[in-house]
Order: sequence, then structure tokens, then C-alpha cells
Amino acid sequence: MTSKTPVSDVLDRVLVLEMVRVTEAAAINAAKLIGRGDEKAADAAAVEAMRAALNELYMDGTVVIGEGERDEAPMLFIGEKVGSAIGTGPKIDIALDPLEGTTITAKNGPNALAVLAVAEHGNLLNAPDVYMDKIAVGPGYPDGVIDLNKTPTENVRSLAAAKGVEPHEIVVCVLDRPRHADLIAELRAIGVGIQLIPDGDVAGVIATTNEETGIDLYLGSGGAPEGVLAAAALRCVGGQFQGRLLFRNDDERARAAKWGVEDLNKVYKLEELAKGDCIFAATGVTDGSLLAGVKKLRSGVTTTETVVMRASSGTVRWVKSEHRL
Ligand code: FBP
Repeated sequence: MTSKTPVSDVLDRVLVLEMVRVTEAAAINAAKLIGRGDEKAADAAAVEAMRAALNELYMDGTVVIGEGERDEAPMLFIGEKVGSAIGTGPKIDIALDPLEGTTITAKNGPNALAVLAVAEHGNLLNAPDVYMDKIAVGPGYPDGVIDLNKTPTENVRSLAAAKGVEPHEIVVCVLDRPRHADLIAELRAIGVGIQLIPDGDVAGVIATTNEETGIDLYLGSGGAPEGVLAAAALRCVGGQFQGRLLFRNDDERARAAKWGVEDLNKVYKLEELAKGDCIFAATGVTDGSLLAGVKKLRSGVTTTETVVMRASSGTVRWVKSEHRL
């Protein structure tokens, strides 16, 4: 896995820890809106802080996955240039979600994150903002243990055999959505445990890589941009992920063509979503399975927890910071 990934000199120049500052800034600003019932305000706060932090970095950055297309997103839109060295610095592509879990934040639920992934130019899939059918498992299983072209039952059986347990001992994470009714019914019929999450499938996918969460498998559809972000994380820590873009209407199919997607039924593997060396960083906004959320202590100190990882080294750093703002 990671040892075979060549080290990117371009990424070397953008220090891994600089990414921590960026997601920390977004999380701290969004956290001011936790539990305030205003998704848009929380998202706007995260976007503003993330953009300012990105613009401090020495790079010629391009947002390839962002808040949407220019006409629908005033800041951090797809194609927006960021960094302090546009035209001269290292060319970096950035996939970002300044606030992954806007509703979670508005309701003070679990697992809201400020997230980004960076790679050399051309290495992150420019996914249109449509749904993606996703399947993921953590590291340590033989290649091909999961297959998006197979049924949920077949995938659970295959994973159970590889893990050496019965299918009903497998725990599957699924977004709690009406569109997943059939998937949930099928999984219940074979007796697996289902962890239904209200939102936040980046954290849901990453949870499969951490045995302490008890989650073995991620299944179901969510945002395609979130799929690329989750894939970047799995490139760093290992695991398998497959995604297929889902198009609900002609408008979405037209968008796919605009982004250069030719085969609408293609199953994307990990390396097709995030290639080569990449860095993934996430800071908790609210407490969750991956990270603690932002806390403002009585002393006036604000604490954050961030995970930052790199594909070429496989290094995973957990960064706890105290901010005296
Ligand atoms: P937002 O932060 O944009 O609200 O996304 C939260 C999320 O739950 C993602 O994690 C997931 O990929 C997507 O929404 C699912 O979309 P939908 O809510 O339409 O089912």
C-alpha cells in the first residue's frame, strides 16, 4: 500500500502540518454555530476561515472539489485558485469540505468535521456534485473482498469469510435515509448489525479503518465529493473503497459530461479517486467516532483535535491543539 506510493516533492513543499492549520481554522469558526439551528451560517463560517487559511499557504492551489460551481458558491467554488503563490508556487489540487455535516452542526449531533485532501495537480477525481454509491472496508483484507457490482448480501458474506466470522457478526454503517430502505431490509434479513448515521459519510467510511468503532463495512449512497475525500483518507491508512456515480436526471448526466465523465456506470476504485501521493486532514467540529470536537474551555483556551495523514509514508498524526485566540 503506502510504501509503494512515490513521494511527491511538490507535496513536500506544502508542509503536512500546514494542512492542520487550515482544517483547525475552519472547525473553530464553524464551532461558534454549533447547535444554533442554522446550517448555512455554520457552513459560511467554515468556508470563510478555510479560505483565509488556504490563502496563507505557499502554493498555486486549485479547488477541484469544493462548495459547488462558481454560480452557486461565492467562495471555495470548483476552479477557485487559492494560495499565496498563484502562478509561481507548487501546483496543488485541493478537495475540500469546510463543514462536512452542516445539519449535524446545526443540531449539535456527532461527527461533524472540517476536511480537506491535497494532491499534485491532476491526481484527484473531479467528481460532479451528484450522489455516489459507496462500499468500503478497512485494511487487512484480501484485494477484491468487496465488489460494488455484487449484492449487499454477497459482500457481507465475502467479508465475514475473510474475517473468519458469521455474516450476522458483521456491522455495517449506513446513512439513515429513506432511499436506503431496501438496503437496510436486505441487511436486516441476514441479521447483520447496522449502525445508522444521520449524516457524515466521510467519518462513516473512515470508521471502517478503526477497529475500535466496531464497524466492518460501509454501504450506501452519499455525496460524490465526500467519496473522493474518504478515498483520499483510505489511500493513506489502507482499506478498500469503490464508488459509482449516481445520476437522478438529465441535468446531472449533462453535468457529468461537463466534468469529463464518459462511462456513467463506471465503478471507481481507490486509486482512480485519489492517485499518487496525497495528504488528508480533518478536524472535529462536534465530538465523533474519529475526533473530539472543538471545545471552548472556561480558561478561554479553545481545543481542537485533528488527524492528518499522508499516502506515501502512511504516517497518521493525531494533533491536539490549544488555541489562545
Ligand atoms: P453536508 O455537510 O453538505 O450537509 O453533507 C452531509 C452528508 O451527510 C454527507 O456526509 C453525505 O455524503 C451527504 O450529506 C448525503 O446527502 P443527503 O443528505 O442528500 O442524503
